[in-house]
Amino acid sequence: MKSKTAKETLAISTKVVLPHETNTLGKLFGGALLAWMDEIAAVSAHRHSKRVVVTASINNVSFGEPIDLGAIVTLEAKVSRAYTSSMEVMIDVFVEDRLTGEKKQVNEAIYTFVAVDQNGGPIHVPELVPETEQEKKRYQAALRRRQLSLVLAGKMKPSEATELKSIFS
Ligand SMILES: CC(C)(COP(=O)(O)OP(=O)(O)OC[C@H]1O[C@@H](n2cnc3c(N)ncnc32)[C@H](O)[C@@H]1OP(=O)(O)O)[C@@H](O)C(=O)NCCC(=O)NCCS
Repeated sequence: MKSKTAKETLAISTKVVLPHETNTLGKLFGGALLAWMDEIAAVSAHRHSKRVVVTASINNVSFGEPIDLGAIVTLEAKVSRAYTSSMEVMIDVFVEDRLTGEKKQVNEAIYTFVAVDQNGGPIHVPELVPETEQEKKRYQAALRRRQLSLVLAGKMKPSEATELKSIFS
């Protein structure tokens, strides 16, 4: 299976925050942002695997800053590492300044997707090749995030989480 570069998995989406997506303070609902991130991350995982993908876990989401009604929001998703059937996807969320057009990062999230066959069973995905400094950093750190996610899901014994142990020892 031919490996893919992280760049090849890039998926970008731009949204405008509408009234039905906000709370009574006029700020974007966290759940709306989660759905946007899930959608664009799935596109990225699909670009990597060219298969049907399902969300296996949402590993980390930080709602750094509230996002206002009417804001122009850009989501950028890229696969950060691929394993046998699973792919970690990182999503960076930016809000655009209406006057200058300058983009400020307001959120970041990490999702894991699994490529599946017609019966919903996991299938193999290509390797991911990181190229830029940021892609390489994210690739390196992905292994401990995977282990943490699997330990929390009860799919890995803490004693087997070697990458995690190396942080705490
Ligand atoms: C995700 C799913 C396909 C995994 O299937 P499974 O039979 O449990 O398969 P396995 O335990 O062999 O795991 C398959 C892969 O998923 C990964 N995985 C499973 N749970 C995970 C988790 N919580 N975090 C990170 N990775 C996970 C495994 O590490 C494995 O990766 P690898 O093949 O790259 O090594 C299955 O649980 C599923 O269909 N879940 C529902 C998905 C869904 O509907 N999502 C939308 C939510 S509403």
